[in-house]
Amino acid sequence: MSKYSFKYDFSEGAHPRIIEALTRSNMEQQGGYGTDDYSQQAKELIRKKINNANADIYFVSGGTQANLIVISAVLHTFEAVISPKTGHIYQHEAGAIEATGHRIETVEKADGKLTPTDIEQILEAYFPPHTIQPKMVYLTHATELGTIYSKAELQAIWELCQQKDLYLFIDGARLGAALCSEESDLTLSELSAMCDVFYIGGTKNGALLGEAIVINNDKLKVGFESHIKMRGGLMAKGRLLGIQFVELFRDGLFFDLARHANRMAQKIKNALISQNIPLHSESPTNQLFVIMPNKLIEKLYEKYEFYTFFKYDENSSVTRLVTSWATDEKVVEEFIEDLIKWARVS
Ligand SMILES: Cc1ncc(COP(=O)(O)O)c(C=O)c1O
Repeated sequence: MSKYSFKYDFSEGAHPRIIEALTRSNMEQQGGYGTDDYSQQAKELIRKKINNANADIYFVSGGTQANLIVISAVLHTFEAVISPKTGHIYQHEAGAIEATGHRIETVEKADGKLTPTDIEQILEAYFPPHTIQPKMVYLTHATELGTIYSKAELQAIWELCQQKDLYLFIDGARLGAALCSEESDLTLSELSAMCDVFYIGGTKNGALLGEAIVINNDKLKVGFESHIKMRGGLMAKGRLLGIQFVELFRDGLFFDLARHANRMAQKIKNALISQNIPLHSESPTNQLFVIMPNKLIEKLYEKYEFYTFFKYDENSSVTRLVTSWATDEKVVEEFIEDLIKWARVS
């Protein structure tokens, strides 16, 4: 039997409804580069959901691409972006942002979340015109540690950004998981109203691929589409992205899928807590970071795949367990049984 993977939330292809919609529309002729009917319909559905009829929306194929397109389109080359040190743009994008000419100013954060104080500290070191100018705040929701921002936390960052003339960009590769967490007090439209630009992740929430970049700030809309094209992100067959986002947003599938992923992870989390296995971060979403005894990891590796991130101490390591829209609840139950059985003997 092949091992069951808790490595990613994109191990499976796409939700069957998305595949059906792609198949159904396959022989239709449609306009290229996002001019197709489906992309227009998907944009309207998202505009409605975020309560902003004026938002500009563009679909691109992946998260790194969305990040580098947004950041390089918005910033002048002498401007920098502020990010937690755990930020995806800093740790996991092979220097994609730096390659566009922008420094990433980082802040060490145990929970992966920025605060207004972190941002102010970076601004204090700005010595114009000599030092690079911090001009954008980048945060991820959910974060790379599975944590989420509350409405009050986001509001405080947004107010500071407005006061200090900084752009706020939210990386929503796992926005569904964040918004659908039982601990979330934020809606999609509230989040949208508290940033200049953000993206809605499809790749990690049931789409074959695709992210929807949403631009609220009029200033940032100018030339954006040309910038996408220049960066190689404007897909000739943009319909493929439009069709998927119509399916995700026409009746709430996006949110249902995220809820399932979260529920599976939280089931595992409760079992971990019952076995006194400590968590490395307090994640209420679909990614769990767990401090596991090495012997337990070895046993679990016989049947399951997941990442061991780093050594915690001599006897334990920090692992990451990720569930998805497609995670089988029966396998989760079996995993929990194995966990309880092996936690006792390791
Ligand atoms: C928060 C976040 N942003 C961006 C990305 C990049 O996405 P991609 O791998 O599609 O480039 C990821 C991928 O894991 C991510 O977790």
